Amino acid sequence: MGKNIKILAIESSCDETSAAVVVDGREVLSNIIYSQIDIHTKFGGVVPEIASRKHIEAISIVVDEALKKAKLDLNDIDAIGVTYGPGLVGALLVGLQYAKGLAYALNKPLIGVNHIEGHISANFIQYKDLNPPFVCLVVSGGHTYIVYMKDHGNFEVMGQTRDDAAGEAYDKVARSIGLGYPGGPKIDKLAKEGDEDAIKFPRANFHDNKSLDFSFSGLKSAVLNYLNQKDMKKEDVNRADIAASFQKAAVSFLVDNSIKACKLKNVNRIAVAGGVAANTYLRKSLIDAGNVNGIDVLFPEFILCTDNAAMIGSAAYFEYKNGKTAGMDLNAVPNLKIGER
Ligand code: KG4
Ligand code: ZN
Repeated sequence: MGKNIKILAIESSCDETSAAVVVDGREVLSNIIYSQIDIHTKFGGVVPEIASRKHIEAISIVVDEALKKAKLDLNDIDAIGVTYGPGLVGALLVGLQYAKGLAYALNKPLIGVNHIEGHISANFIQYKDLNPPFVCLVVSGGHTYIVYMKDHGNFEVMGQTRDDAAGEAYDKVARSIGLGYPGGPKIDKLAKEGDEDAIKFPRANFHDNKSLDFSFSGLKSAVLNYLNQKDMKKEDVNRADIAASFQKAAVSFLVDNSIKACKLKNVNRIAVAGGVAANTYLRKSLIDAGNVNGIDVLFPEFILCTDNAAMIGSAAYFEYKNGKTAGMDLNAVPNLKIGER
């Protein structure tokens, strides 16, 4: 065994400024997350310009804190990992320029990380013996994918959303019933008090029923139509029932396609990643379906589901091991696709 590789990782793709130190892709020495959510809540969603400014204010503090917590200084670090896409361009650029500056000044390798692949890597931190291949359900605020991870850096997209992402649907439905941003955790909580069979919200149906794609915009519209009809009739609505019924429709879609994907690939293991992986109803429903079908269901702990730099440090390590370092010309790629380099 060679020496342990310590990566300082930086994440700033959306509204969390985060820095972490991760050893050999699996062991987290620190994972500092500065969330801007309180500021964006006032506007009902992430305001890109504010996000960039807040990242600039926080970045050096967060990086210093990550090193301090790991009891290391910059000279102990072997490489710098950083998210370069997908995400908000102005937000990405803050972390990226900071990481480039560090890599240049220290003369250490720079590793560009795909944020979505970072989410998947949270599972390598959680499950120390986990290695590809496995099926992964990626459900975040901006992305919804079912992928087959053949190897590190090698992904086959089996299904994806044709419109809204799962987290986006949660956030939009939450807003429509006055729950505010970010809506996912609020729906998760409120739904526990509601009846999931109270309202029958439809699920998208594709003509090609072999497809593992998703669509959530019809479901969102169905909730809006329901609210409008109730409003016109001057009838009260039960927000907990709406939350629970919406969630049942959305989660059953995610669960059914996930199980289908495992069967197609003949694998008995599925990992889940992204902010919506923190959803308690999804966790329970997928584990139940896994039990019925003999499939192990893996979830990272809550803090590793939503945006954080530890997952970026993990993904960076596997890139580094594959010799995939970046040059000083690495740029932010707001629409970076999974598996793209
Ligand atoms: O992965 P993430 O932190 O950021 C992106 O890369 O998009 O995901 C954020 C998304 C938001 O849409 C948020 O509402 C959703 O994850 N989310 C949840 C829960 N916690 C966060 N959705 C449902 N239930 C939750 N408990
Ligand atoms: Zn994310």
